[in-house]
Amino acid sequence: MSSLTVWKHTVLYLTLIITLLYIIETQISHKLHINHNKIHLKRSPDLPLRFRDDGTFKILQVADMHYGMGSITRCRDVLDSEFGYCSDLNTTQFLRRMIEAERPDLIAFTGDTIFGASTTDAAESLLEAIGPAIEYGIPWAAVLGNHDQESTMNREELMTFLSLMDFSVSQINPPAEDGSDQAERGSLRSIDGFGNYRLRVHGAPGSVLSNSSIFDLFFLDSGDRETVEGRRTYGWIKDSQLRWLQDTSKQGHKGNFLSNPPAVAFFHIPISEVRDLWYTPFIGQFQEGVACSIVQSGVLKTFVSMGNVKAAFIGHDHTNDFCGNLKGVWFCYGGGFGYHAYGRPNWHRRARVIEAKLGKGKDTWTGVERIRTWKRLDDEDLRKIDEQILWEASYTFLK
Ligand SMILES: *[C@@H]1O[C@H](CO)[C@@H](O)[C@H](O)[C@H]1NC(C)=O
Ligand SMILES: *[C@@H]1O[C@H](CO)[C@@H](O)[C@H](O)[C@H]1NC(C)=O
Repeated sequence: MSSLTVWKHTVLYLTLIITLLYIIETQISHKLHINHNKIHLKRSPDLPLRFRDDGTFKILQVADMHYGMGSITRCRDVLDSEFGYCSDLNTTQFLRRMIEAERPDLIAFTGDTIFGASTTDAAESLLEAIGPAIEYGIPWAAVLGNHDQESTMNREELMTFLSLMDFSVSQINPPAEDGSDQAERGSLRSIDGFGNYRLRVHGAPGSVLSNSSIFDLFFLDSGDRETVEGRRTYGWIKDSQLRWLQDTSKQGHKGNFLSNPPAVAFFHIPISEVRDLWYTPFIGQFQEGVACSIVQSGVLKTFVSMGNVKAAFIGHDHTNDFCGNLKGVWFCYGGGFGYHAYGRPNWHRRARVIEAKLGKGKDTWTGVERIRTWKRLDDEDLRKIDEQILWEASYTFLK
């Protein structure tokens, strides 16, 4: 090699090294800083939750997503012809389609959002599963099912994480003394489970009830599995949780126009009385046995005595999607949403929508006048089915 060639090579190498250093400094270095803490603050939705200008408040119920690890998690119970091209991403796509079609004001994830056995990182799975709600900036609330805690987080950690995610309105548990001024800051009521809380929805902007909560949403932890007298069974809603419901009901809403406004509840595992609906004119499909605890909880009795709970929305049994009425309270299944969850081939994954509508006074929106529900199927045109009225006010507001 001549000295000229060596010299040329040296110049080339130097140029290459300088170029690399330049690229690292300008393009990559900011990603390498570890002391340069970028603090991520939770992005919160506009609160309080409130009815829209058109007098409606719409909730999308997402039951049993069973999310795993995205594109590598296969679908269950789809047609053989669909199996090759089906993963958790189909579940994500369905959620996006539902959001686009319904533009809900709140999304309620009623448990088994992730399927513990199919993920190695619960946090990562939750971020992906709930991702579309965050993308669209829609407030969302979650309760736990019986599978969520089967990977890297226990139930307390899951509810803590869920409450800290962007646009979440989920809470770990109610404050020590709901509504009391003396309640120690941040201390939670000692209660069974994680994810028991109340959300209050305010009246439409500019209306007489814009500063009042006129629609209550109760979220309850129905547990996972328990052993009772040597028998393995599902969890149930405990007396401490029912006492909290009773207390919120007794205490009402201080300084509010309506002391106990209409309410609905969300939890995962059905109560045993849901079995009795088989003998009633339910709306929707009753295709599998009701899988619930052998312990009969006082949920129904509590709802009836509270008087304002009009409906409860549950999950757990994916191929049941009916609504039936027990002693004046509707119990409605969401129907299986997720593709990694068991289901039936040729029976579309589905989701439930709940819409509360306000009454119209002389020149202002008043309180809730009607609660309706319907479902949509994940077919080509998101077919809407089984629309029904769950409750209508028998009173008339200041007309
Ligand atoms: C899953 O999504 C893919 C890609 O969009 C689509 O081709 C396929 O039909 C979907 N499968 C089901 C069962 O919906
Ligand atoms: C609601 O509260 C806001 C802010 O405090 C107030 O300006 C408004 O007049 C109140 N509206 C009603 C209907 O009470």
